Amino acid sequence: MADGRAPGRIRLGPADLLGDRDLLPVTVAGRQLILVRAGARIVAAERACPHEGADLARGRCVAGRLLCPRHRASFDLRDGSVSPGWSFRALRLFAIEAALDGLWLRTGAGFPGQAP
Ligand code: FES
Repeated sequence: MADGRAPGRIRLGPADLLGDRDLLPVTVAGRQLILVRAGARIVAAERACPHEGADLARGRCVAGRLLCPRHRASFDLRDGSVSPGWSFRALRLFAIEAALDGLWLRTGAGFPGQAP
């Protein structure tokens, strides 16, 4: 789905890529992610739940949290932290820039092909 690259970022598509959807699965540099609308901002997250790998594209976004469809853990879309009572790692998030020329994913450390 990604259709352009610039140093440190990858263009995902037009600024209105999500349309009226709250969740959209995308493939970026071979990595399965989801775009999530969290209020006025958009964030990218890994698509597989860090618990047992459920497809988070089948989840829901409620009040700034992404709910996993399998066991109902939820993730804070500001930092990826999991809801109380769970002990697995946080959801990996990636910053999205909404610009006039489209949506761009910022590729920092930890993204495939980037320095660790
Ligand atoms: S697979 Fe997501 S909470 Fe268990």
